[in-house]
Amino acid sequence: MTDSFSASEINHLRAMTPGTRHRVHLNNAGAALMTTGVVSTVVDYLNLEADIGGYEAKAQEIDRIEGVYGSVARLLNADPGEIALAENATVAWQWAFYAQRFEAGDRILTTTAEYAANYLSYLQIAKRTGTVIDLIPDDAEGRLDPWALEAMIDERVRLIAITWVPTNGGLVNPAAEVGRIANAHGIPYLLDACQAVGQLPVDVAQLGCDMLAATGRKFLRGPRGTGFLYMKRALLERTEPAMIDMYGATWAGGDRYDLRRDARRFETWESNYAARLGLGAAIEEALAIGIPRI
Ligand SMILES: Cc1ncc(COP(=O)(O)O)c(C=O)c1O
Repeated sequence: MTDSFSASEINHLRAMTPGTRHRVHLNNAGAALMTTGVVSTVVDYLNLEADIGGYEAKAQEIDRIEGVYGSVARLLNADPGEIALAENATVAWQWAFYAQRFEAGDRILTTTAEYAANYLSYLQIAKRTGTVIDLIPDDAEGRLDPWALEAMIDERVRLIAITWVPTNGGLVNPAAEVGRIANAHGIPYLLDACQAVGQLPVDVAQLGCDMLAATGRKFLRGPRGTGFLYMKRALLERTEPAMIDMYGATWAGGDRYDLRRDARRFETWESNYAARLGLGAAIEEALAIGIPRI
């Protein structure tokens, strides 16, 4: 298959995206125009909830709802059990970050172009625990410099957390090179892939990341209010979420509880299933077109 799109394919893709009829919309880094397939998936499910009731709609459509985990997993080359669905990327990222343990003197290594909300979380943990935030120097082109990162590693580095594609500008950080360094030193690696998913091929095995958070509404063209977390199985099994409810855990009697074995240990019981299904539809559309081609 050729990498380029034919004129008729472009016409077809534009016809699937009704917002393109009346404007030139370049704000995918904010929230992209949704396709008719995504919108009808959301609206049809909402109508079903209105028609038969929210709990009944979920019971009826449970296979499709479960299928969204599979769609995200296929997008990332992960296992569905390693995926948690969230209401945005920030919450997904926070689930991963605040589940890490930090002590005074520990170090978090991050980039000069880190997403501001992530950096605020580092500041909060630094204030609470005495953890130190260290910035990985840039190379001549403004990307984080893997050689400089390698030179910064010592036994106090507790987490490497970077943004792959920062929100503003065209910078693409060398995420897989960071993964090789993190893995070689056994340091947990949290990747913010918010502006990458839907725009770049994302393969968590090839990236070597232990945790990855992303949103649905940007280059994936899903609905607003959607996001997801990937956490590698080996890390997941020893990670206690910062907060739990009776979806992520089960009261086992007395003072004991059991965490779910999969990444849904981070989730809570109530969710916007219409939006989730819309996310699943958007991912399937992107996969059908082919991420490398996109
Ligand atoms: C790099 C990056 N990380 C995280 C986020 C937060 O995503 P969300 O708004 O889905 O929480 C954004 C949103 O602009 C982003 O650009």
